[in-house]
Parts: sequence; structure tokens; C-alpha cells
Amino acid sequence: MSIITTVSASYEASRARSRELEAELRRDPGRFRVLTGDRPTGPLHVGHLFGTLANRVRLQDLGVDVMVLVADYQTITDRESPASLPADVLGLIADYLAVGIDPDRATIFAHSQVEPLNQLMLPFLSLVSVAEVSRNPTVKDEFASAGGAAMSALMFTYPVHQAADILFCHANLVPVGSDQLPHIELTRTIARRFNDRYSPEQPYFPEPDGLLSDAPLILGMDGGKMSKSRGNAIALSASDDETAQLIRTARTDTERQITYEPDRRPEISNLVLLAALCLERAPEDVAAQVGAAGAAGLKQLLTEALNERLRPLRQRRRELADDPAYLSGVLAAGTDRAREIAATTLGEVRELMHNDY
Ligand code: TRP
Repeated sequence: MSIITTVSASYEASRARSRELEAELRRDPGRFRVLTGDRPTGPLHVGHLFGTLANRVRLQDLGVDVMVLVADYQTITDRESPASLPADVLGLIADYLAVGIDPDRATIFAHSQVEPLNQLMLPFLSLVSVAEVSRNPTVKDEFASAGGAAMSALMFTYPVHQAADILFCHANLVPVGSDQLPHIELTRTIARRFNDRYSPEQPYFPEPDGLLSDAPLILGMDGGKMSKSRGNAIALSASDDETAQLIRTARTDTERQITYEPDRRPEISNLVLLAALCLERAPEDVAAQVGAAGAAGLKQLLTEALNERLRPLRQRRRELADDPAYLSGVLAAGTDRAREIAATTLGEVRELMHNDY
């Protein structure tokens, strides 16, 4: 996609590796365990749907073992009040199920509930230096924006916690955006050092790969990053009217003719792309169809296409939201499975570290 501006050598290497992995996924899906997840910070939106959720369902349907993490501990530091957490967690699970994640095949769990997962963080912390964590770009950004002194030590070490999220279940594949690649690199470092130190004969932890997707980046209705906190996101759970209203406010430009030119006309092209994804057509086709009908015509087409595309999903989501006991049951079953996996891993880690007395 043209939106990616930083093309580094390591990014290119990751892209090439991702293409190899895609071929391998089709050949032998059973060889992979995928770990993905989200912070429960509010309803998922169409950016998530086309960016990551559809990809998770695809991997699940290929026969890959998919672990879906509700990263609730990652919201400790950025949440004003913890009281809304339970509703956000159940809402996230409703979103997952509505898009097609199947609790009979995938495992949905919250990491705060999986004690042995969190205990792995302690030995992992011993395997990285403060200097290495400081170099992580996300940590650096957070540090800069919090003015350094205000950053919690938990925020500082969260990439190490992410390594525990990934390694507790021996996941070997982590679908990510390019911004998360440094976290995967740190996870690989931790796995390698653990293996070198405690299991030199036979590597115990896999060194997981990041899987970069070809999914397009969907912008918010104001042309910025789509995010709930900016009020520019179309939630999966939004009503038809709310969707229409948000699209009505979308930023456009002054040219009459609709075209698909992401670099020159990012806002218009984003609306075209979103409609094209809903209609499963090429964006150029959609742009040509709207043509002289201009921004108003485009918005009308997009509103109809998006509401149509989301209708069955929203219907399912409403039914799920009416049954919180079912959602809690899905989470409890996923938690049990994750706990079992984590307990086995922690037991083996204790043995390897000679802590098993
Ligand atoms: N940091 C991720 C996010 O903000 C969520 C997350 C937590 C995660 N642990 C993970 C993603 C491990 C992948 C692997 O969306």
C-alpha cells in the first residue's frame, strides 16, 4: 500500500518472509499456532474488520490453531476508570464471535486470568536489559509523550509481557502491523536467550515469526488514523443511522469527479476503498461508477454498501450482546484451555531452570 512510507531493509525482509509463510500456511496449516489479540478499549470498528479480523477468520478457516488474546492488563495504565472493563471485555468477545471467530476452534482468553502466563514474565525480564527495552520504538514513543518521568514501569516492560503472551503457548506466528515488528524481534531474542541458557541441547521456545498482512489501512472519516478516541471510527456495533451520520461528516475534497488516487486524494480514496472492500470489487471500478456523482454520490454508495455488508454481522452481534452469560461462558472455556497450556509451559520452564523442588 502506498500509505506505508518507511521502507526499511528489515521491513522488506519481513514482507518476503511473510510471503513464504503464506505459502507454508496453505501447505501445512497444522504446523502453526497463531497468537493475536487486542486491548479491550472499546468497540472494534471497520478498520479492525478489514485490517485484522477478516485475516484471523481466514487463518482459522485454513485450519490453523488460533489463540485470541484479550489484553486486559495492557489497559491498566491508559484507562481512567476500571469499572467499564467487564463490559468492554464482553463487548470485544461479542465482536469476535460476530465476525466469525468460532469458539469451538479458536481459543479466546484474557491474559489477566491466566496466572502461569504472567509468571513467565519474571524469568523473561531477566533475559533483557533496560537498554534493550529502552530502544523499543513503542516504549520510546510512550516515554517521550509521557514526559519520561510519568511513565509507569509496567508500561516500560510491556513488550516483555507481550513476549509472555506469545511464548506461553509456543505460538510460532503472530499477525502484526509493521509497528509491532520490534516487539516480535524482542520476543525472538527472549526465546533465543532462554533456549541458549536453559535448554541448549534442544530449543524449548520457538522463535515466532511476525506475519504482515496485505490488508489495506483504513483511515477514519476525518482522514486520520481510525480510532475510537478520535470519534472518526465506524464501530461494527453501530446502527445503520449512526453509520450514515458518520459517513455524512467524512472529509472529502473539492474535485467533482471521483477517482481512486490514494496518494493524491487520501480521503476520497479511503471512502472508495471501503466501499470496494464491502462490495468485493476493485476500487478503480467503484470510483468509475460514481464518477461525476461526486462526493455526495460516493457517500451514498458507501453508506448502502457498508450497512449491507455489516447487516448479518450486526444482527448476530445484537443476539450475542443479549446473552452475556453465553459470552462469559466462551471466555471461561478459553481461559481454562489457556490456563492448562500455560501451566504445562511453566512446569517445563521450572524444570529447565532447575526451580522444580
Ligand atoms: N499490543 C497489542 C495491541 O495494542 C495487543 C497485544 C498484547 C498483542 N499482547 C500481544 C498482540 C501479543 C500480539 C501479540 O493491539
